[in-house]
Amino acid sequence: MLGGMLVAIDGPVGAGKSTVARAVAARLGFTYLDTGAMYRCVALAQIQDEASDLKRTTEDLRIDFEGDRVLLGSADATEAIRTPEVSQRASVVATDPEVREQLVDRQRGLTQRGDWVAEGRDIGTVVRPDAELKVFLTASDEERAGRRAAQTGRSIAEELADLRERDERDRTREASPLVRADDAVELDTTGLPFDEVVERIARMAEDVRAGTPAAEAAPQQAENT
Ligand code: DC
Repeated sequence: MLGGMLVAIDGPVGAGKSTVARAVAARLGFTYLDTGAMYRCVALAQIQDEASDLKRTTEDLRIDFEGDRVLLGSADATEAIRTPEVSQRASVVATDPEVREQLVDRQRGLTQRGDWVAEGRDIGTVVRPDAELKVFLTASDEERAGRRAAQTGRSIAEELADLRERDERDRTREASPLVRADDAVELDTTGLPFDEVVERIARMAEDVRAGTPAAEAAPQQAENT
């Protein structure tokens, strides 16, 4: 295949997209793009200046990725964008069509050249419907809440309530709701070891690059849907 390749990984909160996408990118030697971090940056900027106009804030925002760090203007926002408050606000600003349009434009620009693993909610449906491989990552609500609780130190019940609220908002919003692309391979990671999830996606990407369609490259899909 000439030119770049894009692996799109979409799915709900806590399905493991970030860690999986990062590991798949490392394994394939692709660049990783965390599009959720961009919505989180807009949310953080809005929290820091509540009186500001959301559209202007988004337009003026400088978001850069340096390795694992996320830079907002000249400040390192890597940790600040991960608080529960920013998580909730990000799912609210993500319902705004103007915010989405601006961030989607940036995401398209970024992924135009080179090899990428991009992760979010609408990569395979809106940002890059032309992605060479689309994976829709899911897991049971309880497993997702358990994984998040292990990361945040909050209770599973709190995480469950939080992710259901965010899921509902992500799925029901008018602008680019979270849906699985028709041509995405659905991978239910409930009970699957992390390494195996990474391995399956990396192999699918290698097969696609070699010219085998993703659906054929992933016969195990049937048992996971
Ligand atoms: O993946 P995340 O939790 O970091 O995403 C933060 C919020 O941004 C989440 O509520 C959904 C939203 N989002 C989105 O609407 N589209 C994307 N491509 C990525 C994230």
